[in-house]
Amino acid sequence: MSDLVVDIKDLWVTLNHSFILREVSLRIHQGVFLGLIGPNGGGKTTLLQVILGLVKPDRGQVQVFGRPAGHHKNRGLIGYVPQRAFADLAFPVTVFDVVMMGRYPRIGLWHRVTSQDRDRVLQKLEAVEMDHLRDRPIGQLSGGEQQRVFIARALASDPQMLVLDEPTSGVDNRAQGAFYHLLGELKVSLSLTVILVSHDIGVIPYHTDEIACLNQKLYLHGKSTEVLSSEALKKVYGCEVEVLVHGKIPHRVIGEHHD
Ligand SMILES: Nc1ncnc2c1ncn2[C@@H]1O[C@H](COP(=O)(O)OP(=O)(O)OP(=O)(O)O)[C@@H](O)[C@H]1O
Ligand SMILES: [Mg+2]
Repeated sequence: MSDLVVDIKDLWVTLNHSFILREVSLRIHQGVFLGLIGPNGGGKTTLLQVILGLVKPDRGQVQVFGRPAGHHKNRGLIGYVPQRAFADLAFPVTVFDVVMMGRYPRIGLWHRVTSQDRDRVLQKLEAVEMDHLRDRPIGQLSGGEQQRVFIARALASDPQMLVLDEPTSGVDNRAQGAFYHLLGELKVSLSLTVILVSHDIGVIPYHTDEIACLNQKLYLHGKSTEVLSSEALKKVYGCEVEVLVHGKIPHRVIGEHHD
């Protein structure tokens, strides 16, 4: 049996008569942690939505778990942390309830929440080390804490793939490191395939297995260690990428744009 989780061939997407994605082909194997990078407006969120079946391709084939994207049998198999998950937090719901919402693809509309569902929710809160805050209103958590809760929500349906769209924006450097470490651990303990959209190009090569650079077209997709030293990063961002070395860990900074 194939271990291809995502198989995209010659994908084209237009929205409002403009090209958003052009001739994108991408294969992601089971258990891979893929970092997806690229400039603002490059089409990263759109590509995730195509994989989730929320945006329809104009052309091309998109297979997810061996079925067309959006297939009902893929429901619950993909945990999604959207880019703006942290919007309206005045919402008066507890951390526990937020994570339970992620369980609904498994429960279905017409069934009651069982003690097994509650156990699953608690288990996921424990996995992200947020179980002690389970009765707090979600709006009273810090950004970094909320981010972990949204991951628990994405995991609540026991998915095989986790898709995260810029989950570290607004989180400090130290929490970011701990966060990536947690993702790596979850990947192994839950046998997940992970797609992570991020602008942290200085750090994600150290936490991911592969990197893809998207700017309408997919410019580069390879092992993170090889991509680190590649010229293609410059091309995809259309601006200079300098490599500064702090101790042993090279640190990338996007420089001023010169026309
Ligand atoms: N529903 C839509 N209708 C029309 N254009 C859209 C729609 N959604 C996105 N776009 C456009 O598609 C392009 C790609 O958007 P997308 O959100 O996928 O980029 P992104 O790589 O995720 O950017 P960012 O890093 O800023 O999140 C943008 O130019 C955006 O304005
Ligand atoms: Mg986006």
